[in-house]
Amino acid sequence: MEYNIGIEMEKIKERVCGERVISALSGGVDSSVATILAYRAGVDLEAYFIDDYFRKKDEYTFVKEVFADLGIEVQLCDIQNEMLNAFKGISDNTQKRPIFRKIFYETFGKLIQEKGGRYLLQGTIKADKKMYEKGQLQHNIGIPFEDYGIENVIEPLSELYKPEVREVAREMGLPEEISERQPFPGPGLLIRCLGEVTKEKIDLIKEGLAVAEEELAVYNLFQVVVAISDDLVCSMRDRAVPDKYMLIVRGVKSKDAMTAKGMIPSQDVKDKLENKLMNISDKVGRVLWDPTDKPDATIEYI
Ligand code: XMP
Repeated sequence: MEYNIGIEMEKIKERVCGERVISALSGGVDSSVATILAYRAGVDLEAYFIDDYFRKKDEYTFVKEVFADLGIEVQLCDIQNEMLNAFKGISDNTQKRPIFRKIFYETFGKLIQEKGGRYLLQGTIKADKKMYEKGQLQHNIGIPFEDYGIENVIEPLSELYKPEVREVAREMGLPEEISERQPFPGPGLLIRCLGEVTKEKIDLIKEGLAVAEEELAVYNLFQVVVAISDDLVCSMRDRAVPDKYMLIVRGVKSKDAMTAKGMIPSQDVKDKLENKLMNISDKVGRVLWDPTDKPDATIEYI
């Protein structure tokens, strides 16, 4: 890998020239590596975790604790209500990414103004750019940054693919829980919520993902996805009234997310996982398994 960590840190330091950098830190491997590079380069850095309600379960606590051990204080920017309100009455899947993107970058624009920042630091990687070029949706590419009051953006990983970012993470001594972490999309659980976006549905997939990641850990997958349907179905619990959601589970093997192989678990693993998911709530009426490959499917749903 032709990526010299020392040179990249120097480049960041030279570029920002003593100005304040605001890091968009989600806790994924990409934004974590970007943040640690800037931190170790000695720049004036403030790291923010945006809680938009679409993050994994207990995510802020996890990110805060991991980064505290690395000497970085991660501040919380809570926009949960704003996000959930913005999606009230929105069922059209095509509207979701643009709405999310607007609020996400408006939030960073405001943070930059308030905190006297001059640069936004992002963990964009090459796969994001490539997929965007191929017409796939990516929340962090093709942004009119000036419209949000963001003058300068630093993306120190934009020429690397995921396996290389993981190598940098290991070289920089990030803990395994970060360097080997499964990817999680910028818009989070939003792009796994089909149809109307409600707190109830997001809570079900949040809980479902935590369970599925744990039960499928034996397979060492590239990514586990849990999505939720909008259509309501029956189950044998309660009466046979179609008022229950379907959870859709997907485990993929992949190297760099450009292609992916959908896997099917053993009967035992499937049975145990299904049982746990059905018991998350009496609002879950069915568990569907989605082993479709990419291509032609994408890894995410929206
Ligand atoms: P797809 O669904 O395009 O996903 O096959 C490929 C990989 O990219 C992740 N993904 C995203 N990551 N912002 C991100 O940071 C996004 O908007 C986004 N959309 C998809 C996805 O989870 C998978 O790892």
